[in-house]
Amino acid sequence: MIKKALAILGSTGSIGQSTLDVVRINSGGFRVVTLAAGANIALLKKQIIEFRPRFVSVKNEAACLRLRKEFAGDKIEFGYGPEGAARAAAFRGVDIVVSAIVGAAGFLPTLAAIKAGRKIALANKESLVIGGDLVMAAARKKGVSILPVDSEHSAIFQALKGHRKNELKRVILTASGGPFVNTPIEELATVTPERALKHPTWTMGRRITIDSATLMNKGFEVIEACALFNLPPSKVSVCIHPQSIVHSIVEFKDGSMISQMGPSDMKGPISYALAYPGRIKSGIEPFELAGKTLEFIEPDLRKFPCLTLAYKVAALGGTYPAVLNAADEVAVDFFLKGMIKYTDIYEVIDTVLDGHSSVAANSVEVILEADRWARVQARRIAKKKN
Ligand SMILES: NC(=O)c1ccc[n+]([C@@H]2O[C@H](COP(=O)([O-])OP(=O)(O)OC[C@H]3O[C@@H](n4cnc5c(N)ncnc54)[C@H](OP(=O)(O)O)[C@@H]3O)[C@@H](O)[C@H]2O)c1
Repeated sequence: MIKKALAILGSTGSIGQSTLDVVRINSGGFRVVTLAAGANIALLKKQIIEFRPRFVSVKNEAACLRLRKEFAGDKIEFGYGPEGAARAAAFRGVDIVVSAIVGAAGFLPTLAAIKAGRKIALANKESLVIGGDLVMAAARKKGVSILPVDSEHSAIFQALKGHRKNELKRVILTASGGPFVNTPIEELATVTPERALKHPTWTMGRRITIDSATLMNKGFEVIEACALFNLPPSKVSVCIHPQSIVHSIVEFKDGSMISQMGPSDMKGPISYALAYPGRIKSGIEPFELAGKTLEFIEPDLRKFPCLTLAYKVAALGGTYPAVLNAADEVAVDFFLKGMIKYTDIYEVIDTVLDGHSSVAANSVEVILEADRWARVQARRIAKKKN
């Protein structure tokens, strides 16, 4: 069997490590050709030794130079920065790019992968949040498949198989509700990063864990679903499902609802994206439905104002989504460093959006400029709250 050649962008992160777990248990099916990471060089070195990639990229030049020296004679090329990650994505011979760098930093490498004609296993939802039209148009032009890794979008993708798009009534994204689903609103101003990082059902990177607590992550997923499945925001609903067993639902015009279920382990959607249209071992623990309860609850928008914000932005389009994402990245970072309150996250983002004059998001430059502008504004506003 010919092994599929993989580029893993964000290899040291939660999704990157789960992807490598899937590769380990399907070692006959895949080979890792490139890795791209940020600053966790200790873990990256272990991955290099185990998987022997041809090219490796890191965030900064100094780390790149050190690695080049350390692995001299190993026939491994090294790069750094956005160009390095883009090179890892477009590297010769790669079949599938797992795009799992966190944040807007994943946008250019995802585009580079598409331009090189690589199949994309997309975890980096920010690529579709900030540049959905551009990314989807580039993928259409190149005939590139974008396979969602986000569990909700993977579920929708699977539930849509064999059905006609014009018979779809809406999609329903499920959300665990995060750690504060039952916390009184009055308490939210005093919750600590440690409490917010304790996700009840999923183990993920720090930023997405905080975004899951505020439901901003679900808001991003609404925008992601609109881009991926070519839907207006009015056809994308959100429902709290605390057990995280139903990963999302598609409702058809005859009232039928089709869902995909499974344990909350990202190795499920990752293995599906890697093996599509087939299926392979995922390594997820055996799962029994007997004894489980499934609840579905309307989100309390007073408690989760970020979700309302994301819906507004989804409807407005233009550069608003890029501003939403960038302001959120900054606000979450300030919160995690203990510099603003949990409830300030929403306020910072809302204020930045208020001050933005949106234009059509029709080029990479326009999107990156909106991203830069929003980061400056968000830092200024967050510092005032400190
Ligand atoms: N985790 C999940 O369950 C999950 C589910 C659905 C979707 N996603 C999406 O998947 C993406 C990754 O999430 P995650 O939870 O895996 O995040 P994470 O654990 O924080 O990992 C992020 C990865 O990106 C790398 N990175 C960060 N900045 C970089 C830069 N400037 N250049 C190159 N690499 C950089 C990090 O490198 P270092 O660690 O080496 O610095 C790390 O490998 C996000 O877009 C998230 O929304 C995640």
